[in-house]
Amino acid sequence: MDAFGPEQAATYDERFSKLSAINSLLHLVIQSQFAHLPDNAHILIAGAGTGADVRHLAPLFPSWHFTLADPADAMLEIAWQHANQEGFADRCTFHAGYVSSLPETQFDAATSLLVSHFLNEEEDRTAYYRSIAERLQPSAPLFEAALCGNRYDTIFETEMEVWLGLMNLAGMTDEGGQNYRQSFGTLFATHDPSEVEKMIGAAKFGRPVQCFQAGLIRGWITHRL
Ligand SMILES: C[S@@+](CC[C@H](N)C(=O)[O-])C[C@H]1O[C@@H](n2cnc3c(N)ncnc32)[C@H](O)[C@@H]1O
Repeated sequence: MDAFGPEQAATYDERFSKLSAINSLLHLVIQSQFAHLPDNAHILIAGAGTGADVRHLAPLFPSWHFTLADPADAMLEIAWQHANQEGFADRCTFHAGYVSSLPETQFDAATSLLVSHFLNEEEDRTAYYRSIAERLQPSAPLFEAALCGNRYDTIFETEMEVWLGLMNLAGMTDEGGQNYRQSFGTLFATHDPSEVEKMIGAAKFGRPVQCFQAGLIRGWITHRL
């Protein structure tokens, strides 16, 4: 996708660095939720981008293997560079494509961070979750986080103000903020949290439990049925 071409990939890690506390907390929740996995666990990283969560987990769990799947070559290239420089590339498989094009390996866990909000249609978003479920063993956890705002809800304006306040700290201009506001329902899905939970549940996962929120980013833990 164009939003994640070479130019965007090169600046992705820096772009939101002032909001790194949000990413750090996401990664801590994943670390705690996955801590019980076996030493030889194999983790699916759906929409891996530049691999921020793998960079957090790989040094903590030195025998885990990671499969990073992403349709954007340029993002995966940066993920490979990080893995190479930080010494865990030999524990990573890089798959330049959608999760649905991966073999149905029985992964022990999966993450999907800031990916599913790009799927505006309920059918596509549910199919994405199903493509992850089909590659997990029964009971395996999925940690899913996405931008989540229903522009038709009366609280949306206030939620958006809070979020744009944070984006301002990350350097977003007022004009950028206006464009961003318009993106819900076009670039980003405008599914209500309860709708997202239903879609996850419809895709062979147990009832998702929301265990993270920072502005418009919500995170859920769920398990493959
Ligand atoms: C905002 S980035 C998030 C990257 C990373 N997960 C993180 O936490 O920084 C979104 C990533 O999702 C990827 N992506 C978009 N649509 C996707 C899809 N349908 N399946 C898998 N990945 C997708 C993009 O190429 C991009 O690398």
